[in-house]
Amino acid sequence: MRFAVIADVHGNHLALDAVLADISRQGIADIVNLGDCFSGPLTAGKTAEILLATDAVTVRGNHDRYLIEQAPEAMHASDRVAHSQLGERHLEWLRSLPFNAVYKDEAYLCHATPSDDNVYWLETVSPDGHIHLKPIEEIETLAVDIDFPLILCGHSHIPRAVMLPDGRLIVNPGSVGCPAYDDDLPHYHKVEAGHPFASYAIMEKLDGIWIPTFRQVAYDYRAMAELAAERGRKDWASGLATGWLR
Ligand SMILES: [Fe+2]
Repeated sequence: MRFAVIADVHGNHLALDAVLADISRQGIADIVNLGDCFSGPLTAGKTAEILLATDAVTVRGNHDRYLIEQAPEAMHASDRVAHSQLGERHLEWLRSLPFNAVYKDEAYLCHATPSDDNVYWLETVSPDGHIHLKPIEEIETLAVDIDFPLILCGHSHIPRAVMLPDGRLIVNPGSVGCPAYDDDLPHYHKVEAGHPFASYAIMEKLDGIWIPTFRQVAYDYRAMAELAAERGRKDWASGLATGWLR
């Protein structure tokens, strides 16, 4: 049993195209998508056309929720640009997305944690803005009641696998379309992949054990960085071009 996990596409259709082509080259047809599909100053409309045409089992991210809950004038700049490119059909699709889902009775899917779409499951942010692996006890506490061998989450954009003491595996595939960003909550911090490539994961069950393969895919990230710069987003331009915020 083998399938691909994508997350945090953030309206970057060139990165999504490259990842979908890479998935296809691996001979994989089944895809799950962990949300935050469109938010960002890039190509939300084109991304929506591609994503809606895939048959991926998709859960809703916090930014997907903002796009259908907030009035455009109240939105963060990145959400507002994405919203301006989306049609009613795309918004209706966002409204239809569940908070969480189960894939083939094997994998539990959520955007961030089972109870909150805006909290990192696997990482802690210290008051000085350092982001690091959360203690296993805290990770395990969030997984209580999740009775599946494989647990998939996104949101932090950091590719990572954590095995719980009982053998359940939690995997974050990283971000398809946004390799670096900063955030004010819970403390100001940066997440930087350190490279500009699109990230996703392949999950394969071998001898009863789920094994992740993390993949990084090259695409025309300079074109997306230029688009971000044209739209006055130096932060996105730097993140897309290099994987660093500078
Ligand atoms: Fe998110």
